[in-house]
Amino acid sequence: MKFINPEIETYAIDHSTKPSEACKKLELHTREVEPMSRMLIGEMEGSLMASLIKLSRAERILEIGTFTGYSALVMAEALPPNGEVVTLDIEQRDYTQSFWDQSTHGSKIRFIKGPALETISTLEGKFDLIFIDADKTNYLNYLQKTLPMLSAHGAFVIDNVLWSGKVLLPASSDDASTAALQVFNDWVSSRSDLRVTMLPVRDGVSLIQKSGH
Ligand SMILES: C[S@@+](CC[C@H](N)C(=O)[O-])C[C@H]1O[C@@H](n2cnc3c(N)ncnc32)[C@H](O)[C@@H]1O
Repeated sequence: MKFINPEIETYAIDHSTKPSEACKKLELHTREVEPMSRMLIGEMEGSLMASLIKLSRAERILEIGTFTGYSALVMAEALPPNGEVVTLDIEQRDYTQSFWDQSTHGSKIRFIKGPALETISTLEGKFDLIFIDADKTNYLNYLQKTLPMLSAHGAFVIDNVLWSGKVLLPASSDDASTAALQVFNDWVSSRSDLRVTMLPVRDGVSLIQKSGH
């Protein structure tokens, strides 16, 4: 299900700041070699992420779900020179680092391979932005485990919260991802200590902050 009229979406992308050449190259390579290239956040969400980083003056970002490294590079390029993106994935593509190296911002990215729930336990310090974009069945675990790691004025960005519109109907018994996203969306929106804005951008993006900030 498309949430935005495709012509309007194209017009909006055409009138937003474009990704860098290095990001564009990585996106094109991903589309050439990865059967699941649709997992990329793409230009519109990338532009939104960059604006959020700049607006919030984020310096340290945690990303759960690297894939080919596109979103990590988009975010690194929006960070100040001392910024850092720590990005986690259970899989590692052999070409990702070489694309990061083509950008002067690539050195801000630190990739850690492994199941994210285990890796999170090894991390230290606070993060100004936490981007959750990995296995949907663990979304709530990721949020609950990283909530204490969010800086006072920090925010979560959660991808795919509308899951092609499947969240509207009861999940079938073999669809654990839809069921998990429904539980996740209900849980965050019921919490008085969190403020949530769910945007019908791309596949649904939720912005979550601690209340009072
Ligand atoms: C939607 S893709 C991330 C896309 C990426 N953020 C981008 O836009 O360029 C999801 C990624 O989560 C990873 N993933 C799935 N389960 C995971 C787990 N348990 N721990 C860490 N990574 C996982 C997958 O390997 C996949 O690369």
